[in-house]
Amino acid sequence: MKIVNVYEPGKVILFGEHFVVHGSKAVAFAIDKFVKVSVTKSDFLSVEISFPGDPVIKDKVIRHPPEHVSSNVFLNYIVNLTRKFNIGNVRINVEVGFPVAAGLGSSASIAAAVTKALYTYKYGIVPSKEVIYEIANQLEVEIHGNPSGIDLNTILERGIVLYDGLEKRIVNKLDSGDFTFIVSDTIDRRSTGKLVKSVSLIKNEMSDLFNMLVSIADKISSYGFELLVKNDVEKIGRLMSINHGLLSAIGVSTTKLDYLAHRAIELGAYGAKLTGAGGGGCLICLCESQKAKEILQTFNSLGYPSFIVKPYYGDEKIEYE
Ligand code: MEV
Repeated sequence: MKIVNVYEPGKVILFGEHFVVHGSKAVAFAIDKFVKVSVTKSDFLSVEISFPGDPVIKDKVIRHPPEHVSSNVFLNYIVNLTRKFNIGNVRINVEVGFPVAAGLGSSASIAAAVTKALYTYKYGIVPSKEVIYEIANQLEVEIHGNPSGIDLNTILERGIVLYDGLEKRIVNKLDSGDFTFIVSDTIDRRSTGKLVKSVSLIKNEMSDLFNMLVSIADKISSYGFELLVKNDVEKIGRLMSINHGLLSAIGVSTTKLDYLAHRAIELGAYGAKLTGAGGGGCLICLCESQKAKEILQTFNSLGYPSFIVKPYYGDEKIEYE
């Protein structure tokens, strides 16, 4: 029996989200949390997608996936791909190992992992990043409307990347660095497409001002990347908090995200900001590894599921049997 297991990481945006859609640079990194896809021979076509369990936090059930992310979007994509590759009957298992629709790149990671697994199963060779990007980006466009491309590019490239929103490509990359980040889930779910549209409205209403904000985000991202190269965690943290203020200014933060960002600093983090589209989803903070335990405990006990993430610099994760 032929089995292919593929693992693709999620991602975190450290600087420049939203503004990257309008041409600024942004910094993102692949995380050490994965989507796993298995393809096995079978007598009929079956697809199973499992999201993280539905934990109950303070009497509130977190739905995975949330209502606006219908599993059907993923199912249709997968079934259409099996037809495109003329694969026949297989059993496809998708396990998502991190929160969905929460700013961690779940849709890009699922699209990339499924595309790589089915292609490899069919043709016996691993497709290039370009081939995966072209196919998987169709799902990103369907779900997000007008993606900048940063999610898929980061996931496929691994490491920490400086992405140029104008050229729509990675312009610099960092392959090492030991950083400890905490991701905290507000457990509020939102649609990236809607948030991106709400920011475009500001651009239409006050374009001069908005363009100035885009150049500030561009500066933050380029400077942030330099600081990452130098491993200057204190300044990286301060810059993250400045970036959070900028995102708050364009209306994509929430009371919970602002609260968690302030609380993280009070608890000794170097800096904190929302990550991804905002409107809920996750906060990310950078801290000393000794401080991480206390911050994790506090946020978890406040009802915000939290976990440590580190940049994933590894290679291809693929298994054949
Ligand atoms: C989503 O992870 C990041 C946004 O900047 C949208 C995009 O870049 O496509 C909000």
